[in-house]
Amino acid sequence: MDVKTVVITGASAGIGAELGLLLASRGHRVVLAARRQDELDKLAARGGGGSLAVRTDVTRRQEVEALKRRALEAFGGIDVWVNNAGRGIGRTVLEMDEADFDEMMASNVKSALYGIWAVVPHFQEKGSGHLINVSSFLGRVPLAAYRSAYSAAKSALNSLTANLRMDLKASHPGIHVSLVMPGIVRTEFPLRSLHGTPQAAWRAAAAADSQSPREVAEAIAGLIREPRAEIYTNPSSADTALAYFGDVAGFEERMARRRG
Ligand SMILES: NC(=O)c1ccc[n+]([C@@H]2O[C@H](COP(=O)([O-])OP(=O)(O)OC[C@H]3O[C@@H](n4cnc5c(N)ncnc54)[C@H](OP(=O)(O)O)[C@@H]3O)[C@@H](O)[C@H]2O)c1
Repeated sequence: MDVKTVVITGASAGIGAELGLLLASRGHRVVLAARRQDELDKLAARGGGGSLAVRTDVTRRQEVEALKRRALEAFGGIDVWVNNAGRGIGRTVLEMDEADFDEMMASNVKSALYGIWAVVPHFQEKGSGHLINVSSFLGRVPLAAYRSAYSAAKSALNSLTANLRMDLKASHPGIHVSLVMPGIVRTEFPLRSLHGTPQAAWRAAAAADSQSPREVAEAIAGLIREPRAEIYTNPSSADTALAYFGDVAGFEERMARRRG
């Protein structure tokens, strides 16, 4: 097996934690980054000798640079970097304020940019590597009004990911850049969203076609094995996106009727 060194941000819970455990169980070296040291330590212990916990706040650029240095010191190189940390919001466009918007951009976009700026020069130097940005289906189809600035931040992440991929394609064909767009995943994400998540949204989410964090981790592990430009982790998402872009007004009208 091709053993890889994989850095995962947002690895103390949810999708990132599952991905860390899954990759460690398959013999990969994993560097787990998030703010909750206790959670990271427990997960690193479960992952075994090839797992390293590094406390990191991804909204601080120096801490993301330090994360890269720790990974290089421990394992000598980085093969895959997964920008997975992120946070939702529970306010609409008209309800949120400027601080809410800034927090969404810091947690979901600037955090990933710091990761890109930290690791891509290392990939360029060695001529290979895989950058994976975990976005959301809401970054492509902004269907949830109360996730407003979160959807906007993930849309920005989608664009930056595509720009970076095109920038590197000709000059560094050995570097892969991928986007992952999960649908609804059963994690603490709604609880930990800024201002929480409205009750009606909980009910809608419970009725929707959701995935476990393990399923999403499996999809990302598959992407690491066979790099692709982008994936929806929920198979139904591609059809929904096509229907949305085929007729935005009609789609929104159908959604509004269903809500009303
Ligand atoms: N759950 C869903 O329905 C869903 C759907 C689509 C996309 N996603 C995306 O999937 C990714 C993972 O979400 P999840 O569902 O696993 O959420 P989660 O269970 O809330 O986990 C979020 C992770 O991000 C970390 N994190 C948040 N802010 C951070 C910061 N400033 N610095 C470092 N780490 C930070 C958290 O760790 P600490 O608190 O310990 O720092 C935690 O490990 C996110 O990018 C999210 O947007 C989730």
